[in-house]
Amino acid sequence: MSMDGLPKELERLVAEARGAGDWGRPADYIPELAKVDPAQVGVALCLADGTELGAGEADRPFSIQSISKVFSLAAVLGRLGDDLWRRVGREPSGTAFDSIFLLEHENGRPRNPFINAGALVTTDALLGGREPRQALSEIMHLVRAAAEDDDIHIDKAVAESEKATASRNMALLYYLQSHDNLLNPPEMVMGTYAHQCAIEMTCRQLARAGRMLAMLPGVPAMISPLRARRINALMMTCGQYDGSGNFAFRVGLPGKSGVGGGILLVAPGVASIAVWSPGLDGYGNSQVGTWLAERIAGYTGWSVF
Ligand code: DON
Repeated sequence: MSMDGLPKELERLVAEARGAGDWGRPADYIPELAKVDPAQVGVALCLADGTELGAGEADRPFSIQSISKVFSLAAVLGRLGDDLWRRVGREPSGTAFDSIFLLEHENGRPRNPFINAGALVTTDALLGGREPRQALSEIMHLVRAAAEDDDIHIDKAVAESEKATASRNMALLYYLQSHDNLLNPPEMVMGTYAHQCAIEMTCRQLARAGRMLAMLPGVPAMISPLRARRINALMMTCGQYDGSGNFAFRVGLPGKSGVGGGILLVAPGVASIAVWSPGLDGYGNSQVGTWLAERIAGYTGWSVF
């Protein structure tokens, strides 16, 4: 199908989204994020022929939060390979992103790398005895190279804000430590994780960084096709936590959300898509962003099913 009508359709969908009566609510457990105006929506796409499209607030930076888990996973798989899977599983959890519940039943091995417990283990593995700044510079290098844009930075105020209210993640870290599934001190892993979550990107930058997962031709070869496919599988099954099944049902594309309101979506071989709207649904995923992703998938027919 020709995508000639897509730029107009994106404008139309953004205009429709702006009329949304209910934007959802920005995350309030990280005080810096609670300040963001929820009545915003942006989208950007990179297509296989190199076309880049954007509409709405496509160039406004936002906190990528849990979308960073995709980049830390890619980095740690590059460093450790499949050894990571001894410490973290590959199954959907059916629990909230910050839940501790399954860890007790499953001997401190988190279900997957996208729930917080699994992402904390991933960041711990990336640290692997190094200083936080070395692990962070590895993630930043990967993100900037994948986006081919050096103007991507960490918002220190957001990182500090998360560290100051991190009781739940600290509890997860101590619990992991009690099961010998943490190599570094909890405070150090928390600080590193808060900083990776505080990376700021625009939809346009995020869509460009996602091209490596979409395996689009001519993009920097940051990860192997096998690794990209496997990360996509995890995004599809676990990327929206206990909302993953419904997201697959509605959108049909691998996606990873963050409590900053962003979602990175992958149409393998076809497109990389980033949507953003800061108001969240009950699962902590962008409410209007999910709606927009659903409508884009519906218009383009890009569902993988
Ligand atoms: O760990 C946290 O609570 C946040 N830094 C990230 C959580 C997040 O983005 C969940 N996703 N929707």
